[in-house]
Amino acid sequence: MDQHDPSFRHAGPGRLAGMLRDARHYTLALFDTLADAGYADSARVPRLGIINPPLWELGHTAWFAEWFVLRRAASSRPGAAFGHSLLARGDDWFDSSLVAHRTRWALDLPGTGAIQTYCAEVLERILERLAGEPADDAALYPYRLALAHEDMHGEALLYTMQTLGLGLRGEMSGTMPAPPPAGEIGFGGGVFLRGGDQSRGFVFDNEKAAAPCRVAPFAIDAAPVTNARYLAFVEDGGYREARHWSEAGSAWLAASARSAPRYWRRGDDGVWQQLRFGRRVALAPDAAVRHLNLHEAQAFCRWSGRRLPTEDEWEYAALSGHPQFAWGSVWEWTASPFLPFAGFAPDRYLDYSAPWFGSRQVLRGASFATPARLRSPHFRNFYTPERDDIFAGFRTCAP
Ligand SMILES: [Fe+2]
Repeated sequence: MDQHDPSFRHAGPGRLAGMLRDARHYTLALFDTLADAGYADSARVPRLGIINPPLWELGHTAWFAEWFVLRRAASSRPGAAFGHSLLARGDDWFDSSLVAHRTRWALDLPGTGAIQTYCAEVLERILERLAGEPADDAALYPYRLALAHEDMHGEALLYTMQTLGLGLRGEMSGTMPAPPPAGEIGFGGGVFLRGGDQSRGFVFDNEKAAAPCRVAPFAIDAAPVTNARYLAFVEDGGYREARHWSEAGSAWLAASARSAPRYWRRGDDGVWQQLRFGRRVALAPDAAVRHLNLHEAQAFCRWSGRRLPTEDEWEYAALSGHPQFAWGSVWEWTASPFLPFAGFAPDRYLDYSAPWFGSRQVLRGASFATPARLRSPHFRNFYTPERDDIFAGFRTCAP
């Protein structure tokens, strides 16, 4: 096993224990920041479809880990776990498949202290059990699943903070890579093995089955589109020209009345700024543009005579090891709808992928808020086209 592999996918019991502790520490720190701003009280949290009440989200991450690790659940189906939750009504409150999103504000949850105690107890028991596990993929599957799930909720809590306009503490700022190189890279195309390494380690169900996949020759931006590049589109009247927008994009544009990206503001002096975690900061020209939805990415492509990469092209480029291909500062919208690969079968977290096929679009890469252990050229993220609250941007390909 490679000691320098940062991925959770191949981590043995020792490294996994450290990762689980780290993820929980991070979740609790984010929760504290939200609580300090008054958002531990769910009644004070705006009822938005794009966020969860933080207290619910905190309890849910611990409950999920308890369900799959401590209660040895065979699946996410109700009744598929052994025993009871440490919280008498945990199953009624925290099962995301059963508790409809809009009802999460109105649950009779225990107080913050009781939920934090529950989190601590679940983690302690998980670490105790993990210490006795063999370094075996099957034995470690539920631990790795719980870790990935908590890491994804960690990123969700961070974009919740952006949505609510809350400031960050130092440890939450994630990794900001150096300004990306400009230009594009030409690839000759060919056959590559798409999907996670299924011979060992952890693989998400939607990455299976790994299969040889052919891509035609293509040329792709070396890095995601920058603020400066996107600004040219905005200043050219891109948001006012109907011909750049798809039918769905035009409908979104009309409904949202947007004339620039979600968090951009123009100062009295005409200089563009962006809202970053509750602060107005200058628009950094070389940084990847972020908080764009699929419609905006597509409109930019039409305006510039480019196109979005397919997810296969993106994975091919990322796996190529080309030193100029930079990714990881923002999730990247692709031209690919989220669909099952041939041979797909849901894993034990039944609702991870299967319910969302056909209604979401694939994003590839990772954002500055994605922990290094979760980053993978195989990872398929997926959101509905109008989501601009997430840390998403895009790159383009030659037509
Ligand atoms: Fe979840």
